[in-house]
Amino acid sequence: MKVLVVGGAGYIGSHTVLKLKEKNIDTVVVDNLSKGHRKAVLVDKFEEVNILDIDSLKKVFEKYKFDGVIHFAAHCLVGESIKNPKLYFEENLNGLLNILDCMLKFKVGNIIFSSSCAVYGNPQFIPLTEEHPKDPINPYGETKFFGEKILKRYEEAYGIKFISLRYFNAAGADFEGRIGESHNPETHLIPLVIKSILDNNFQLTVFGNDYNTKDGSCIRDYIHVLDLAEAHILALNYLLDGGTSDCINLGTGKGFSVFEIIRELEKISGKKSKYKIGKRREGDPPILVADNKKAKEILGWKTENSGINSILESAFKWHTSPKF
Ligand code: UFG
Repeated sequence: MKVLVVGGAGYIGSHTVLKLKEKNIDTVVVDNLSKGHRKAVLVDKFEEVNILDIDSLKKVFEKYKFDGVIHFAAHCLVGESIKNPKLYFEENLNGLLNILDCMLKFKVGNIIFSSSCAVYGNPQFIPLTEEHPKDPINPYGETKFFGEKILKRYEEAYGIKFISLRYFNAAGADFEGRIGESHNPETHLIPLVIKSILDNNFQLTVFGNDYNTKDGSCIRDYIHVLDLAEAHILALNYLLDGGTSDCINLGTGKGFSVFEIIRELEKISGKKSKYKIGKRREGDPPILVADNKKAKEILGWKTENSGINSILESAFKWHTSPKF
């Protein structure tokens, strides 16, 4: 099979490309390198294309004959989306629409879409099942919610099958340290805790210690990026084997607080994290934990790399020696 990975130079995309390569699946990466890194792409077939440029995108679809598309490319910061909703609605949705347009024109019938637990908004119950009401509280989550609606309508009207994967908190890195998480600016907890350990000039701010949780800090469901990567390949094979379109959570079902993450990283590094307690960050739900039964049942997915130590050790290894 031949697979197009859109956004394959980004964090989750590049780990998925690595897994595809390890399985000898013929992979073509499209990325405009606005956020991603060329060095993160460990396969040869790379096309530097912006998905908003539909003519260039069509040329890629014309050049190769794809069996399926895995679509990662999107803006994905909650805070930025509140300040600049135009960027999110225009680019995330037009990007998806352009890909679907090419899929229709070149008769590619299967897409795996990067969605997020942000589609649920403030949890009404935990763990979050896929049936939980969808009421996103920021433009980023709304673009993922609308993306799922677009996919559903395109399937009904044109027969393009999809699996929408709703990620919880992607974390960790390739165990060999070849690729890892590298955002600029970095806003995610685990890289910033590591920075607060390694960089004498950096102090982490814990966003709130007065939540109604066991230690007052927010709880998240951290899932190893390689387990996420594997789920995309399972999902594509599921569709190619005749499976039906669906939306599926990807998380471990277990939550860790901000303070627990800090403590675990202090143990791994043998050093202290420098942090202070700050105000709550707008739009942060106190607790997000997945119900992952559906992924296990439908895709046969396993969270084999997502023990918290394995996540944090691989992240620490990457950040002590990043390659880009
Ligand atoms: N946090 C801090 N200090 C920091 C950074 C984060 O205390 O400097 C806390 C946050 O308040 C949160 C937890 O650490 O409680 C995790 O925060 P991240 O920014 O690492 O991740 P989020 O849970 O905010 O975001 C993730 C994805 C988004 C997705 C969102 C769904 O990165 O793409 O989950 O709510 F939309």
